Amino acid sequence: MQNVNNIPRRVWLEVSLQRLIDNFRKIEQAVAPAQVLAVLKANAYGLGVLPIARALSDAGAAAFGVAEPHEALQLLPLGKPVQILSSVLPEEVAPMVAAGVTLPVTDLATARLISAASVRCGKPAVVHIKLDTGMGRLGLLPAEAPAVIRAACRLPGLDCQGVFSHFPFAYEAGSDLTNRQMDIFCGILDEIGRDRITFKRIHIANSDAINNFPRACRAPFNVVRTGINLHGSFDTIGRRALKVKPVLTLKTRLTAVRTLPPGTGIGYGHTCRLAAKTRVGTVSAGYADGLPLALSNRGYLLIRGIPCPVLGRISMDYTTVSLEGVPEAEVGDEVVCLGGEGMHALTVEDWAALKNTHPYEIICSFGNRVERRYV
Ligand SMILES: Cc1ncc(COP(=O)(O)O)c(C=O)c1O
Repeated sequence: MQNVNNIPRRVWLEVSLQRLIDNFRKIEQAVAPAQVLAVLKANAYGLGVLPIARALSDAGAAAFGVAEPHEALQLLPLGKPVQILSSVLPEEVAPMVAAGVTLPVTDLATARLISAASVRCGKPAVVHIKLDTGMGRLGLLPAEAPAVIRAACRLPGLDCQGVFSHFPFAYEAGSDLTNRQMDIFCGILDEIGRDRITFKRIHIANSDAINNFPRACRAPFNVVRTGINLHGSFDTIGRRALKVKPVLTLKTRLTAVRTLPPGTGIGYGHTCRLAAKTRVGTVSAGYADGLPLALSNRGYLLIRGIPCPVLGRISMDYTTVSLEGVPEAEVGDEVVCLGGEGMHALTVEDWAALKNTHPYEIICSFGNRVERRYV
């Protein structure tokens, strides 16, 4: 019997590790002497966490940031500090402390649980205090922060190495809230500094802030947390100060080439009806692979470097395109759905605009059957 593993996947996402490393270096240079923590939650935004983490570890990432315990455990073997950036549930505390994952202190009750777990297992627990300076999601509110930090720093077993916060608006250069958040953060540092409480790692900047708020990357801040810029993408709004480049290309194959008569309805709902005899191609990728439905009758895919307009509605597994611009196209041809070089390159940002969403959702939406290939 044939080994099915030898059959290549129909749809694949090429991730350029060299581009990833180049992007990392550009970020590193822009924020030096601050260190760079690579945010690799959600399977490195869907690109496949381990190959990405290994490349960034070799490139010199200071630490990795994740959202929850399973993501943290996957990264521990790489030997870098791994930090849960959001919250930790009570039942997660003991195993995370035992494993040596850096935990967020979002309130005093959590600090006490972490302390108790640390004492029980005889291992110090590294924590970063999380401040809610304006995100409205998690962490200590400014009014309570100094007292809670003082109390947490007295708890046995807690190694309070860091303090951090997060921005909701850093894509908006000069936003009042963002500046106020940093003022609040620095005010808290000053207040607890009078009690000689200091932290090794102080951080607030995400990719938006790296591009729009240089202040967030300078003392007292000495770490930045970046995710989307590593992939060469940016938030929809805001400056694009860093010259990072896209790391991914979504590719598939042409599975059929046919010439159809005028009047032929294409795909579900016949949202396209051919006005003239047309050479059409059926491409083996659909919305299950991450193609936005919004490409229907609007977007294009690249075959032999030529843009081929999408005809009709994208379906789950297939997309129909016009091959009128590429008469030499044939079954088996490689099709670039996203990425590519030159004037017709399709960017994550283009898809985000078409879909009326942000680039994060595009990157995180490639389907399970899409093979991740690291080149
Ligand atoms: C707490 C925290 N810091 C940093 C980041 C990285 O954000 P970005 O991918 O915009 O750099 C995230 C991602 O959402 C986050 O939740």
